[in-house]
Amino acid sequence: MKTFILAASPRRDGNSAMLARAACSGLNEAGHGAEIVFADDVLSAFLRDCRICRRTDGECSIEDGFRDAFLGRFLPADGFIAATPIYWYGMSAQLKTFFDRMFCYVAASHPRSPATVEEMAGKRVGLLLSSEETFPTAAAGIVHQMQEYCRYTHSVFVGAVQGYGNARGEIAHDPSDPAGRARHFGRTFFSRLATDYQIDTPRSGRVWA
Ligand SMILES: Cc1cc2nc3c(=O)[nH]c(=O)nc-3n(C[C@H](O)[C@H](O)[C@H](O)COP(=O)(O)O)c2cc1C
Repeated sequence: MKTFILAASPRRDGNSAMLARAACSGLNEAGHGAEIVFADDVLSAFLRDCRICRRTDGECSIEDGFRDAFLGRFLPADGFIAATPIYWYGMSAQLKTFFDRMFCYVAASHPRSPATVEEMAGKRVGLLLSSEETFPTAAAGIVHQMQEYCRYTHSVFVGAVQGYGNARGEIAHDPSDPAGRARHFGRTFFSRLATDYQIDTPRSGRVWA
């Protein structure tokens, strides 16, 4: 299996990048392919008004690395892990922009929209969070947004790992060992139980065999 990991903090030696690297190691240990892409390397602009901005051939006219990252690396992957700091009780602008820019390729005016929609579905999705504050709902908005993204795209939200720290690399001192948990998260990313039942989902009534 292949996983696309988006490191969405501007700090390359920061806390979410540390979690991204740990998850990547765990995926590799389990025999999976994984690559980390820094959002800052592929995004140079927010989503614009596609109706005005789109080229006559239907392609996005923003000249940066998003097209290659999205079409060439995100879409073919079986898994997607987003690593973001909590910024103002939400995700970083980099991560939000990555999601927003998908719109240009999903919209019917893009020539390969039907294939894109199909390829977006069915991925396993994970979240790695770093924050200064520890209260449980500080991350609730991000978790909720990821869950809605997964519902909308028929993806599976596998779960989240959060570490606490502020200075770059400080989550290494978090006694709950977020890097270790992120590594384990990566190792079990394609095997761990992830359920989101509907009333008529066939199930045994027990969670563990
Ligand atoms: C613009 C900005 C907004 C932030 N907002 C929050 C916040 O709302 N809650 C919080 O717990 N930490 C907040 N922080 C702290 C970061 O989440 C924290 O330092 C995190 O570990 C940074 O991760 P990074 O090293 O991957 O950049 C904020 C930091 C910045 C720069």
